[in-house]
Amino acid sequence: MPNPDLGQSSPLVPPLYTSAVYTLPDLDALDAVSDGLAPGYIYARDAHPNGDHLAAQLAALEAGAWGIVCGSGMAALSAAFVGMLSAGDTVLASNRLYGRTTQLLKQQLGRFGVKTAAVDVNDLDETRAAVREHEPKVLFAETMSNPLCRVPDLPALAEIARSAGCRLVVDNTFATPVLCRPLELGADVVMESLTKMIGGHSDVTLGFLAGTDPDLRTRVAQVVSVWGFAASPFGCWQAERGLHTLGLRMRAATANAFAVADWLAGQPGVSRVVYPGRPDHPDYELAGLLFPAGCGNMLCFELAGGRAEVNRFMRAAPGIPFSPSLGHATTTVSYPAGTSHRYDDPAERERQGISAGLVRVSVGCEPLGELKRELAKGLSA
Ligand SMILES: Cc1ncc(COP(=O)(O)O)c(C=O)c1O
Repeated sequence: MPNPDLGQSSPLVPPLYTSAVYTLPDLDALDAVSDGLAPGYIYARDAHPNGDHLAAQLAALEAGAWGIVCGSGMAALSAAFVGMLSAGDTVLASNRLYGRTTQLLKQQLGRFGVKTAAVDVNDLDETRAAVREHEPKVLFAETMSNPLCRVPDLPALAEIARSAGCRLVVDNTFATPVLCRPLELGADVVMESLTKMIGGHSDVTLGFLAGTDPDLRTRVAQVVSVWGFAASPFGCWQAERGLHTLGLRMRAATANAFAVADWLAGQPGVSRVVYPGRPDHPDYELAGLLFPAGCGNMLCFELAGGRAEVNRFMRAAPGIPFSPSLGHATTTVSYPAGTSHRYDDPAERERQGISAGLVRVSVGCEPLGELKRELAKGLSA
């Protein structure tokens, strides 16, 4: 079908190109597009207009020289690691990561001969020593760790990586580029799960990579196509809609989270509140320096009565749905011991401070009074 003649008009909202494949007039055109000498598309697993449009906007937000959208956050991480590592290489990874990322590194990439060493990236001396010992190709950390929001000193990690000749890769999912732009702090690659705050409405599963080195883009793009990590056009179209309100949502949710964290700390039955914007968080000062726009919408609280009390809380506060994700426009809760870190062994969860009473809250943008009323219902149970 030929493109419709829109005259002087153009759509305000980008068109959705669902086509899995494109037609070309002849073999010369195929060669020109394949060799990057002319614009165009061939096969949607390689590239499509909705993916490129979204990637360009996100790359600008992250201050990246390039950006690539992938089918999920995990697909994006997989593409980055596969693009950068070969058998025998080592990743030096933070010892506080989203559970599936730890599995990707240790169980999946381990099968292909990639080694992973874990380090406390909040301890810079330990990190320097581990870099000397393991000579990693990649140093990997989360801007704010899932779930307990530990904040490493990204500029210092970037310096450690740079002087050792390895690349710093940062999962910025909890912070989003509204709070932190790791590439500007010296990271080589930043990853975002667009499933979370950036998509913003829990109706899309996507991930994103941005970086500084154009050669790495070529390698990652090839991995995305060959390993099949590509994003769907519709997902990209949806995520782009979320992007328009990302700043508004993050600012509103961050203000709510700041207020809710203090309020929770005064509630009976709550034995601990974890939020990097509170002075009792171990990284409070660093978070203040790295995140001038605020400490984000993610927090945790602990119920002294453990799992049974978490169950009672969830049943009594249905207005704050238990849903094992984050970044929805309204507030949701999750249970790290049973969801994001379910497959970590219990000793590992204990080391990280992920207890049976720990509830993770993804604070949303609803009116604060409404949110506190619903939390109070859960706590009074
Ligand atoms: C910090 C972090 N990184 C990566 C991911 C993976 O993203 P996705 O679920 O889009 O694959 C998640 C998912 O919860 C996450 O919390």
